[in-house]
Amino acid sequence: MLKTNFLDVELSNPLMNASGVHCMTIEELDELANSEAGAFVTKTATRDYRAGNPEPRYYDTNLGSINSMGLPNNGLDYYLDYVIERQKSGAKLQFLSVTGMSYEENVGLLKKIQESEYEGVTEFNLSCPNVPGKPQIAYDFELTDKLLAEVFTFFTKPLGVKLPPYFDIAHFDEMAKILNKYPLTYVNSVNSVGNGLYIDLDKEQVVIKPKGGFGGLGGEYIKPTALANVRAFRERLNPSIKIIGTGGVINGKDVFEHILCGADLVQVGTTLHKEGVSVFSRLTKELQEIMKEKGYSSLEDFRGKLKVID
Ligand code: DOR
Repeated sequence: MLKTNFLDVELSNPLMNASGVHCMTIEELDELANSEAGAFVTKTATRDYRAGNPEPRYYDTNLGSINSMGLPNNGLDYYLDYVIERQKSGAKLQFLSVTGMSYEENVGLLKKIQESEYEGVTEFNLSCPNVPGKPQIAYDFELTDKLLAEVFTFFTKPLGVKLPPYFDIAHFDEMAKILNKYPLTYVNSVNSVGNGLYIDLDKEQVVIKPKGGFGGLGGEYIKPTALANVRAFRERLNPSIKIIGTGGVINGKDVFEHILCGADLVQVGTTLHKEGVSVFSRLTKELQEIMKEKGYSSLEDFRGKLKVID
């Protein structure tokens, strides 16, 4: 009932982790690979190991989460070796997330992947809000265009981009126009809503240490923004570019809504962090229940079919 195709690979369901959650170490990645999730993505890798920002750097709130992890990760080789090993043992569809600390590092990371044996998908994270002094790449339209133009002079493997949320129709238009110039496999909307501030009232203090408490928001707060981005890009992007919907998935209804807006796959961040990998069996059950009630037998029955009021 929940089967879906991505790059000619049949997945048991459209659910994945969102990069950053439960995917830093081989142990966590193995747990994801053995879970009910249809696919998984690795923690965003930089060229070198990074310790990330000082703790506390992740905080669960009533309505979601705030984080300023600062891209802690084990470096590209660690994740690239992992996915290549799994590929050799028959793994079909894997997602490797990467981002560079500079323009040159971005190009270098993708060159290394291009030259490697890895045949899976690369998710190019253009939207980390948490590295002090480094703006989110995809809020700079000119830079995004320039970077993708250079990357596609040599990169021939499947590539997706992880985008930050946009809040203006003109920005949806402008970014979609840029993305449509390139042979992208997919667009993933959205990364966390950057630089929110959550306050502990008793202490009259922020809850995370980096950047004076500013951090990316996830969870329930961000679902309407995530859905708007999925819908806006599905309406604007070439049909060949798939969409991964990320943001505000707490239950099966949220997964259904992402797909209704046009998502091909749906990623779970904050709720996976709260519940662990068993979240995927809960969400698949809840989604199936909703589909049964509505009389749908496949995701195609409602994908992208959101109605508007005439
Ligand atoms: O919210 C996020 N946190 N998004 C990213 O892209 C990276 C992550 C981090 O490590 O700070």
